[in-house]
Amino acid sequence: MDTIVTTSPTEAAKFIRRGGTVAFPTETVYGLGANVFDEVAVSKIFNAKKRPADNPLIAHIGRLDQVKTLAAEVPVFAQRLIDAFFPGPLTVVLRKSEKVPMIATAGLDTIGVRMPRNELAREFLLASGTPVVAPSANLSGRPSPTTWQAVYEDLNGRIDCILQGEATEIGLESTVVDCSGESPVVLRQGAIALDQIRAEVHNAVLAESSDGESPKSPGMKYRHYSPTAKVKIIEAGNGILDPLTSAYIGIVDPEITLGMKLIVPDIQAYAHSVFEFFRECDRKSIGTIYCEKVMDEGIGAALMDRLRRAAHD
Ligand code: TXA
Ligand code: MG
Repeated sequence: MDTIVTTSPTEAAKFIRRGGTVAFPTETVYGLGANVFDEVAVSKIFNAKKRPADNPLIAHIGRLDQVKTLAAEVPVFAQRLIDAFFPGPLTVVLRKSEKVPMIATAGLDTIGVRMPRNELAREFLLASGTPVVAPSANLSGRPSPTTWQAVYEDLNGRIDCILQGEATEIGLESTVVDCSGESPVVLRQGAIALDQIRAEVHNAVLAESSDGESPKSPGMKYRHYSPTAKVKIIEAGNGILDPLTSAYIGIVDPEITLGMKLIVPDIQAYAHSVFEFFRECDRKSIGTIYCEKVMDEGIGAALMDRLRRAAHD
């Protein structure tokens, strides 16, 4: 069956209330949602995305008081992050309440919680009347979707509904901070930079490389954000081979003829456009995508993290 596309958050929310799956926009990327407390509905997310069952989901809330239906406890430092960054592109990982089914957290005793600031997302979440678990709305392993059309491309016929909004504002996924231990650990970098987290909780640390045997954030062990094309990270426009079958994205223009090229004004615009550029390169059967390296700070740190993962074979 074809997926229904609607611009109405209340129409979309009806599917959640009936135990269905709905893709919806947030300020980071589009998510694929289901009622967190409905195990059958949550299992549909894993099936639709072909997502490994050991990769936990983030619960999205429309109201701050929903945190207590999801979390067993909220440590003082986690509350400080919530006060500072909710609603916004931050996920806090907390010890879960008993009400949250194991399928949502992939068997972990913790749950990621996030309150998006995107207006359509908030209207949809409020109309759903329940927290909504949602991974990015792409087929597992593909670049995260930043437009409703990208969701449609991956998931048409596999999910009930798409809530159609604008292209997402930030373009990279939320910053994930584990608050279930003694002190905060940043598991995934995002639009909220490590410095901003540290301004609130000074002992926050970055998780060690999550490529190890038992990564803290289970999702980090999987191939991620990958177009079919090869991804190579290069210094400003240098070292491009086979330009006619290659693509380039960056701030500095290499000034050669390429299969595809996107020159962006700054790092923010780069982050905003990179996943859609990857998808467009695949639509055009590009062989190699050359990506300009940027400074590893602020949103640049999150961008470099995604580029490195995409470049990893
Ligand atoms: O911006 C975002 O976070 C988007 C939008 C839709 O909100 N969502 C998103 O979800 O990127 P997903 O599932 O694609 O990525 C969630 C990441 C994964 O790496 C997952 O392993 C990690 O967060 N994660 C989720 N729950 C966790 C938990 N309880 N403990 C540790 N890591 C967790
Ligand atoms: Mg994802």
